[in-house]
Amino acid sequence: MCGIIGYLGPKHPKDVLLSGLKNLEYRGYDSSGIALMNDESIQIIKSVGKISELEEKIKNEKLINSNIGIAHTRWATHGKPSEINAHPHSSGHITLVHNGIIENAIEIKNKLIKENIHFNSDTDSEVIASLINKYYNGNMEEAINKSIKELKGSYALLIMCDNEPNKLYAIRCESPLILGVGNKEYYVTSDIGAILNYTNKYVLLGANELVTIDKNGYKITKDNKKIVREINISNISNEDISLHGYEHYMMKEIMEEPVLVNNLIKKYANHLELLPDLKKYKHIHIVGCGSAFYVGMIGKNFFEEDGIDVSIDVASEYRYRNIKYEKSTLVILISQSGETADTIAAMRMANSKGIDTLAIVNTETSTIARESTYKVLIEAGKEIAVATTKAYILQVLILSLLSYKIKPDSNYMNDLLSLPQLLKVQLDKTGFHKKMADKVYRKKDVFFIGRRIDYAIALEGSLKLKEISYIHSEAYQAGELKHGTISLIDNKTVVFGIVTDEVTHDKTLSNLEEVIARGATPIYIGTDKLKYKNQIIIPKIHKKLQPLLVVPSLQLIAYYVAYKKGCSIDKPRNLAKSVTVE
Ligand code: AGP
Repeated sequence: MCGIIGYLGPKHPKDVLLSGLKNLEYRGYDSSGIALMNDESIQIIKSVGKISELEEKIKNEKLINSNIGIAHTRWATHGKPSEINAHPHSSGHITLVHNGIIENAIEIKNKLIKENIHFNSDTDSEVIASLINKYYNGNMEEAINKSIKELKGSYALLIMCDNEPNKLYAIRCESPLILGVGNKEYYVTSDIGAILNYTNKYVLLGANELVTIDKNGYKITKDNKKIVREINISNISNEDISLHGYEHYMMKEIMEEPVLVNNLIKKYANHLELLPDLKKYKHIHIVGCGSAFYVGMIGKNFFEEDGIDVSIDVASEYRYRNIKYEKSTLVILISQSGETADTIAAMRMANSKGIDTLAIVNTETSTIARESTYKVLIEAGKEIAVATTKAYILQVLILSLLSYKIKPDSNYMNDLLSLPQLLKVQLDKTGFHKKMADKVYRKKDVFFIGRRIDYAIALEGSLKLKEISYIHSEAYQAGELKHGTISLIDNKTVVFGIVTDEVTHDKTLSNLEEVIARGATPIYIGTDKLKYKNQIIIPKIHKKLQPLLVVPSLQLIAYYVAYKKGCSIDKPRNLAKSVTVE
């Protein structure tokens, strides 16, 4: 999704804005721009394509002297990727950048056109600038507060007014926005990672809290009433954000898994009291999107084993269900970013009905982390690659620990303590992973089959492959093949068989034989020492830990396939790291 960053302080904003944009690149974008302001003018420079193209343009322009600036990376929603549609957008006195989607933008735009207001772009963001300019009569706070009352949807806005060349305004609703506090200099951004080079002190802003910043400091108001917000210290270090010699963040983040798993085990193995106790709930609803949803499917298997009634939904469906909640229900929201729009909506639906919500989340400053009843931070550090890997693994581990707390068993703890080392050994099977990638990278269709928890694993393996290599892939319940999908199998198909579940293991092996009989190339990933030409044997451990040894291999196979295909591994086309719009 879009990224925004603003600066006000003694320095010229250019370097802060460009370095901020580079730290926001991982969110996915198709164009970018900056605006600088001083007493005489506002200078805007925009470019489609990569930040490097914007940087080139900036180099070739004579920049005005300035101490205030805003910048933006755009992930197109309203209006195609183009320089005209790139941010910042201006209307009259107002120049702004926007992250989010205004759902009633067309309606407002049509009304403003009737008032002879002219538009240059197809964006909803320019509509916001025009609305604020319409209401501006010398009082910016009033103009902004009047405008937001007409907006429906999500926004994080950084706003400048040419009549007030020493002030920067910021306001958010739904979309993330953080105020960074330096030494007499201030930063406002979508993501704290964009400003960690400058400060780790930040203020979280509530919905429709308007920040007015000038060189003497900042004030926060809501409907003209002063608000005091504490200054937090972020524990995300710059370390998290560097590549450490890896070619891609995705590989770096996969290779961090053993250490991060070990950190959580050290924190919780002998201190389960630090985790919420789920025993009191008779019903658990697990909600997430994409890989987070697949994490939830694994959690469903765990909690059902513990005798709890569990339902699982993708957030974009869950939020529209008419649920008659039982009092003893817990809704678990799974989200790396904590800003996924549909998952936030699902959480707010449960919160509004007085139902407990538990966030299993990575981003400490995120909306889901802040608004859920309880939260468990997975402490994955910054996950930059769009395809989630380490966060997925740590979310599964937290669900496994929560399940163990409900129903402890002696074998679990032994296997838990050996998990980091076993995981490290699994990741080091580079030869196997590259060999499997060789079988896959030229294929048009690749299927994954499994039953029960193996099906949940198959879904994640399939998503990893398709989202970074663009190869068509599907995961099927192995028991479903004969009900239709086996017709897709021919001698050009590769089928991964995920076989670790004790109860259904023989059945899935039979299904693998069925697809082999129809010409498919099988890749066996399982816990038995079988004799498939293409196989990766996974050490057998406690069933509530087993997925943690299977999925990393699937992550690496997907990585090597995408690498062989020369794909943009960390920033796959069309994808964003956090889907903050619906
Ligand atoms: C996974 O590799 C994808 N990047 C995507 O499915 C992601 O898991 C999903 O968008 C949910 O994001 P969240 O965990 O930040 O809520």
